[in-house]
Amino acid sequence: MRFGILGTGVVGKTIAARLDGMGHEVMVGTRNPEETTSRAEPDAYGNPPFSVSNTDSLGEQTQRKFPEAKVVKTLHTMNAHLMVDPTQLAGADHTVFVSGDGAEAKAKVTELLQSFGWTDIIDLGDITTARGTEMLLPIWLRLFGALQKPVFNFKIVR
Ligand SMILES: NC(=O)c1ccc[n+]([C@@H]2O[C@H](COP(=O)([O-])OP(=O)(O)OC[C@H]3O[C@@H](n4cnc5c(N)ncnc54)[C@H](OP(=O)(O)O)[C@@H]3O)[C@@H](O)[C@H]2O)c1
Repeated sequence: MRFGILGTGVVGKTIAARLDGMGHEVMVGTRNPEETTSRAEPDAYGNPPFSVSNTDSLGEQTQRKFPEAKVVKTLHTMNAHLMVDPTQLAGADHTVFVSGDGAEAKAKVTELLQSFGWTDIIDLGDITTARGTEMLLPIWLRLFGALQKPVFNFKIVR
């Protein structure tokens, strides 16, 4: 498949490298190519401000801003290296969530997640369900502090 990755941060680079390694065609876009090539790698999870919650989500804001796009929100509840290789932890026996309005787009994303190695993929429903998963960030950060390592994940037992 052909993929466009917006941004050259930790997540963008990690996903681009994984897709490229799987033989996909990948194009990466950045706001400033010069600054990007000289940028030092951050050594920990980025910790952006938690600016949207409860009655809205970044996923919904993106969908509203680009109504023609089929926005699917996923892979934001674990560390970037685990996103693209879940098998490195507990034989991939842990959970990834998917939120989005379009069933077809979610099916495509689910296929991609399976190709990364994900097995427990929970479709939460439409894009408003991203509110719940985005609000996992504070507990994720506290777990990171308590465990002192970023490779861990949520597992929904049922
Ligand atoms: N790192 C993780 O393990 C992890 C895990 C789960 C969720 N996340 C979330 O994933 C997102 C990216 O995380 P990251 O660790 O990759 O962060 P990062 O290393 O700080 O990268 C931020 C990215 O956002 C782009 N960007 C920043 N401001 C922008 C703007 N105004 N317009 C367009 N692009 C902009 C930058 O692209 P350019 O400078 O190349 O243009 C850069 O690629 C964050 O929301 C983070 O909370 C990260």
